[in-house]
Amino acid sequence: MTSEKDPPQQDIAPDPPQFYHNQTALTNFPFTNGPCPTFVPQTHQIRNASCHEARSLAQYEQKRSGKNRSSRVSDIERVESAAREDGSGIHITWKDVWVTVPSKKGGRRPILQGLTGYVEPGQSLAIMGPSGCGKSTLLDTLAGRLGSNTKQSGDILINGRRQTLAFGTSAYVTQDDSLMTTLTVWEAVYFSAQLQLPDSMPIAEKRERAETTIVDMGLQNAMNTRIGGWTVKGLSGGQKRRVSICIEILTRPSLLFLDEPTSGLDSAASYHVMSRIITLAQQDKRTIIASIHQPSAEVFELFHNLCLLSSGRQVYFGPTGGANEFFTSNGFPCPAMRNPSDHFLRTINRDFDTVSNILAHFPEDEQTLNGGQTAAEAINILVKAFQSSEHSLQVQNRVSEICQMNVGTVETKKSQASFFTQCLVLTKRSFLNMNRDLGYYWLRLIVYITLALCIGTLFRNVGHTYGSIQARGSMLMFIAAFLTFMAIGGFPSFVEDMKIFTRERLNGHYGVAAFVVANTFSSLPFLSLIGLIPGVISYYLVGLQKEFGHFVYYALLIFVCMMLVESLMMVVASVVPDFLMGIITGAGIQGIMILNGGFFRLPDDMPKPFWKYPMYYISFHKYAFEGFYKNEYIGLSFPNEKAGGPPRITGDEILQDIWQVENGYSKWVDMTILLLMVATYRILFFLIIKGVEKFKPVIRDFLSNISIKQQPYSEDSLQHQQESSVRTVRAFSVLDCKCYQVDVTFRD
Ligand SMILES: Nc1ncnc2c1ncn2[C@@H]1O[C@H](COP(=O)(O)OP(=O)(O)O)[C@@H](O)[C@H]1O
Ligand SMILES: [Mg+2]
Repeated sequence: MTSEKDPPQQDIAPDPPQFYHNQTALTNFPFTNGPCPTFVPQTHQIRNASCHEARSLAQYEQKRSGKNRSSRVSDIERVESAAREDGSGIHITWKDVWVTVPSKKGGRRPILQGLTGYVEPGQSLAIMGPSGCGKSTLLDTLAGRLGSNTKQSGDILINGRRQTLAFGTSAYVTQDDSLMTTLTVWEAVYFSAQLQLPDSMPIAEKRERAETTIVDMGLQNAMNTRIGGWTVKGLSGGQKRRVSICIEILTRPSLLFLDEPTSGLDSAASYHVMSRIITLAQQDKRTIIASIHQPSAEVFELFHNLCLLSSGRQVYFGPTGGANEFFTSNGFPCPAMRNPSDHFLRTINRDFDTVSNILAHFPEDEQTLNGGQTAAEAINILVKAFQSSEHSLQVQNRVSEICQMNVGTVETKKSQASFFTQCLVLTKRSFLNMNRDLGYYWLRLIVYITLALCIGTLFRNVGHTYGSIQARGSMLMFIAAFLTFMAIGGFPSFVEDMKIFTRERLNGHYGVAAFVVANTFSSLPFLSLIGLIPGVISYYLVGLQKEFGHFVYYALLIFVCMMLVESLMMVVASVVPDFLMGIITGAGIQGIMILNGGFFRLPDDMPKPFWKYPMYYISFHKYAFEGFYKNEYIGLSFPNEKAGGPPRITGDEILQDIWQVENGYSKWVDMTILLLMVATYRILFFLIIKGVEKFKPVIRDFLSNISIKQQPYSEDSLQHQQESSVRTVRAFSVLDCKCYQVDVTFRD
């Protein structure tokens, strides 16, 4: 049996793709799949070039399993498909959806303006529009993921009801790929399969599901490649996109949101990826909603319906095939040899109207305007035309029909891996990541060893003189305060972990508790090393107490303090997810704690309100100092050089009179308090994440109840707002070396 880490052996290597290098005019020559269709010569060329790969994919799949794919569909998949055939697929409808965000001028700015639409099982919807038109916002709205500063109104219904989708029923592939950069493609997908798929599914089947999905996304050649990030080059942007998609389609969700799934992919890869997703969706009656940026004609044709947006307004909603006719009938026909989707986007992109306005005054430029109209004018014409069109009426009618249909309810709970499995898999994955990421622990360990050597040589054989009392105290204080302070160094890596956790958590892969447990257990071996190696070096070079038990306590205390700082930084990360701000915040908090931990200002001298009560007792350094001091001083005695005092001074007296530590309890109580603090911080992290999850929708619902439609968002006022300032500018033409005066409209 192969080990879990090893990807399956590829006994058949796919044929390497053959590319044709020659003049562009001859590019159709070597391809045998027929002539290039109109207006997509480049796509045709790349797609044909990858035909070899596509064929070998099929061969690969067939030969690897010894049977064809349909017969390999697992029992669980069959049950899932059967459930969807019963009518339990997902119909999603939205009616008059508005979303606003606070504007700089104090009011609210609409991002989506009264959108209506639907998607049915087995169908796919492409959301298109210029960048910034609200595509991601619409996806977030439908998936219930809007930010807390947004207000939303309108009805979004699943199978005609307001309902929350359970884990595995829906999945969302976001625009940013947050993946564990240290894992290979196989590891990332297989760990995810173990996390998401139910325990009842045999391991072999999970491996097979992971493998099939990787092959589906055309990543079989990159299985052993590490994903990579900004430090280590790994996968390309397009390959990372496909890994993100792989992870989300593992559970075969009934409703899949994809935010720009084809960005970074070449046209052939875009086509294969989208056609695989849409074909599977059609077969199993799944619902697909994807925002698409610059699709090739072939990708565009894969979708059933198109939702075209411009500045949050609906320019068109209906069958993809009908969009061309809609544009033509309203005076914007698609020129020959141009990709229709390019034509739609070009017609409704008003970002460059200012430039177009200037260029329009130069007779040499004929390409800039839509038949003499600016994009803003074109959008107004199209939006109005759509509202009174047959397409709009059909959408409204279909939405009403779906809402009245008696479709089955969506599964409220889909089985997934048990809590124990999730903890185990997450611990393994996290350990692997910590081990491979040099910045997580290894680099810190080297720095700690160096520091321990510095401490050891600086305080070498500290001895038992009167002066050694102060030297011991300073050395132990450095260990408890500054050595632990450096645990902040692992924060950037933890923030990366948090990004992955947030994505997986939002998609319901596992819970907060599993993440906390896994993070705790996976870090234990590294923290033990940090406690042990620098501990041995510093302890024995300085020559602290001889008994082994004292050393054990010393190393244990370093370990617990490290864990505590890590737990504190987890809480910081849950509140301040940005790594730079998080480091500053964490450093500030620790700086305050060090300051009033009882070394720089003795406890009896601290101002009582605030600094002593409660800050001194909250600072973990109080207990760390106490633990280290009790461990070292109790049992020793030193010559007393103070005039008039007894000849020798005992450890207990030093603790009480010099360091003013509370001596009524043992060093083990201090250790226990520190351990309880570790638990408290980790529970606090859990509660903050849970609290944010629970209260965010409540706050947004509350804000949404203040109806946003009562605010004046009439089309006229928006238009007025958008076209508020017309200024005359002087422009110089390099074509005829003349100056022109041009009226230019500036928008908000
Ligand atoms: N939570 C938010 N707060 C403020 N502005 C937002 C928020 N979400 C989106 N926007 C703005 O709404 C517009 C549309 O954003 P988005 O939906 O991401 O566009 P795209 O079509 O490129 O996906 C952008 O101008 C963006 O800045
Ligand atoms: Mg977007």
